Amino acid sequence: MKHLMSPLDLSVEELDRLLDLANDIEAHPSRYAHSCEGKKLATLFYEPSTRTRLSFEAAMLNLGGSVLGFSSADSSSAAKGESVSDTIRVISCYADICAMRHPKEGAPLVASMKSSIPIINAGDGGHQHPTQTLTDLLTIRSLKGRLDNFTIGLCGDLKFGRTVHSLIQALIRYPNIRFVLISPEELRLPDNIRDGVLKKNHQDFREEVRLEDAIPQLDLLYMTRVQRERFFNEEDYIRMKDFYILDKEKMKLAKEDMLVLHPLPRVNEISVEIDDDPRAVYFKQAQYGVYVRMALILTLLEVEGC
Ligand code: NCD
Repeated sequence: MKHLMSPLDLSVEELDRLLDLANDIEAHPSRYAHSCEGKKLATLFYEPSTRTRLSFEAAMLNLGGSVLGFSSADSSSAAKGESVSDTIRVISCYADICAMRHPKEGAPLVASMKSSIPIINAGDGGHQHPTQTLTDLLTIRSLKGRLDNFTIGLCGDLKFGRTVHSLIQALIRYPNIRFVLISPEELRLPDNIRDGVLKKNHQDFREEVRLEDAIPQLDLLYMTRVQRERFFNEEDYIRMKDFYILDKEKMKLAKEDMLVLHPLPRVNEISVEIDDDPRAVYFKQAQYGVYVRMALILTLLEVEGC
């Protein structure tokens, strides 16, 4: 049985097929409206989420299936001390597939070892967020027509931002990608990604502190929020939180066709005055997240015709 823990669980060919399926769903949603009738998705969210949980639920409902689950650890038996392994053995009796978000890195992997249904990692601590990466790849491929040959700026909290960690791992498999890592010194990419992934794979990357210096060369700008919940103290968070604010002035320095992505939620790092700029695609990206999660559910459940 297949689970999805990291974007690398899918080969480039499998990923291409999944993105093709997502584009087909986008073009012909009614063809898929009954594909998962009688199937249930469990969403086990031990950490807050709006987009990821609701987009999984919307995805399953769009496929004609049903959903059950919880949206905080306090409202589950975790509050009574139940282990993730026990919870998943029980959930396996109730549902056909499960999306799990957990503050502890590796918790969905532990669950997958005891599970008799496919488990999707919907974000584990500061580690990985593979379905956000699928969303990002679908957005880029659909709007740019390719996943190779571009310069991408990753800006903000590169230390704790799991979406960035997963996206880098996925993108290094495509030719001619140049990474510009834009962050304050304190929020630089962790060594396991910087050295263990980028350097190890002889990837072209450079680090910058000022967004103004980097923006003119970029084809894609991936903004991220400073991850308050993963800071050890509030003062450091307050010092960092407004380090980057993408506004109209900075957008004037960017290429005419540079796309701005953001996994959302946004705090202050993108001024709302940018929202109407055609290069700002973060709300479209949220829509692509539903299509790609539909494609993923169909693929993992091995629904006929996919
Ligand atoms: C991201 C996450 O949870 O890591 N959100 C999301 O799933 N769209 C990004 C974030 O919380 O900053």
